[in-house]
Amino acid sequence: MSEKTNATAWWRDAVIYQIYPRSWADADGDGMGDLPGITARLPHLVDLGVDAVWLSPFYTSPQHDAGYDVADYRDVDPRFGKLADADTMIARAHELGLRVLVDLVPNHSSSEHPWFKEALASAPGSAARARYVFRDGRGEHGEEPPNNWLSVFGGPGWTRVTEADGEPGQWYLHLFDVTQPDFDWSNPEVGDEMESVLRFWLDRGVDGFRIDVAHGLVKADGLPDATHSYADSKRTDDLPMWDQPGVHDIYRRWRKVTDSYAVEGEDADRILCAEAWVLPVESLARYVRGDELHQSFNFGFLMAPWIAKEMRAEITESLAAVAPYAAPQTWVLSNHDVVRHASRLGYAPQPGPLRMPGIGADDPQPDAELGLRRARAATTTMLALPGSAYLYQGEELGLPEATELPDELRQDPTWERSGHTNRGRDGCRVPIPWEGGDPSYGFGPSEKSWLPQPEVFGELAVARQQGVPGSTLELYRTLLGLRREHRLGRGELTWLDLGEDVVAFEVTTETGAPVRLIANVGGPNVPLPADAEVLVCSQDVDLADGLPADCAAWLR
Ligand code: GLC
Repeated sequence: MSEKTNATAWWRDAVIYQIYPRSWADADGDGMGDLPGITARLPHLVDLGVDAVWLSPFYTSPQHDAGYDVADYRDVDPRFGKLADADTMIARAHELGLRVLVDLVPNHSSSEHPWFKEALASAPGSAARARYVFRDGRGEHGEEPPNNWLSVFGGPGWTRVTEADGEPGQWYLHLFDVTQPDFDWSNPEVGDEMESVLRFWLDRGVDGFRIDVAHGLVKADGLPDATHSYADSKRTDDLPMWDQPGVHDIYRRWRKVTDSYAVEGEDADRILCAEAWVLPVESLARYVRGDELHQSFNFGFLMAPWIAKEMRAEITESLAAVAPYAAPQTWVLSNHDVVRHASRLGYAPQPGPLRMPGIGADDPQPDAELGLRRARAATTTMLALPGSAYLYQGEELGLPEATELPDELRQDPTWERSGHTNRGRDGCRVPIPWEGGDPSYGFGPSEKSWLPQPEVFGELAVARQQGVPGSTLELYRTLLGLRREHRLGRGELTWLDLGEDVVAFEVTTETGAPVRLIANVGGPNVPLPADAEVLVCSQDVDLADGLPADCAAWLR
């Protein structure tokens, strides 16, 4: 691939929409979304104006972590359909001009994966155990875990197994749920298997992969104790389980694989996007060096509080970090793991990066109106930034987090594993409202919905917002249309100084004059230049007195 092709490749400024298959559209009425449901609803994405979709896992899985516990990487879980439904979905998306990314979960499998079952049935030291991280315990009788690593979901990162003789035996590592044993990536068999999985989906026509826990695959030699917690870490690679140098070799190998699918003269790159919660941003940028991944989510921007100074700093540092590699930044505000930004921003901002646990009915509730207002301004800001951007299903409707789910219905393992201290991520995973009426606001043909939908979802349904001036859906459509028209994602950013509480920059366009983004992040009204044409504003407000607080606009 020539430098030139790379500079104009589709993924450098693509807007990619995340579908969470359990919750997007249910064709068979069992209360859980499925692939036929997705295929039927794809025209919504064409209407919205995105370039591609990324689907969270739909593979065979016992669903202990909503599908991020894969038992068969080459098949579709019956809850979601059949392999042929995946083929149909991919083909239909392509027909509609949408590219398709699927999720690859290479750090761990499900404990139901045949490899892990074989490992459990085999002796310590066997080849079957060597595909995972089995170790003897510490203490006189091996009764202590091999080291002090913790699970991201809470509790210990190790579980002890019972050996064939009925006695307690070795321990296996699981950085996530106990049903998600970590692979041992120092075993070449693991790398070969994952490459074969990549090829399996590439051969079925997918345009790329989002790589789950991309910073976790390689663990430090000897599995030393962690000296501090992840939350206290300023540099993720200080910790022996994250961001180890060896992960980059894996991505160089995968890049060769995806590049081998390139078609001369066609804008048809197959791409790789890392989910890597890595600090500092310079370390994150290493994942997108020229011979590694195409994209890596910028979670620093997602976690930035609604404070102009911090947002400006985050954007500046993020763009500077990828500049040496001529790679695009990859912006995101919501996904299936974080509190939806329409609710996250409905609290008083606190300085510093925000990691918000799930919200329960007895917690302080976000200010819904303020949150939505800020969310619309945040998205208006994000979609003006150079690079690629990801949207999470339902944010185009302004959906809030479901903050009052009954605890007994929660399914995210975080809730149990944290000893009921973190309510987890179910609140952002509630099924999408399409029509607004009965049943299930159009999610499926029955009343069933695997998590109950808040009443407000009715008025926020797609059909209730379509064509309604000022609706969040119409705002997203306008932003995406203008972004594409002016090719803002390919522009160059220059900062404008409009005051302490303002995020303001201009971006070069392919259609003439630059487009200016002005976001008033909670300060006094910002006067707008008299001669400016307002292309879009995040709120339907009279701008004669300037841009009010918590609003953003694109001007020319
Ligand atoms: C990633 C996924 C998350 C999952 C975890 C373990 O962070 O986004 O949903 O629980 O990996 O696979």
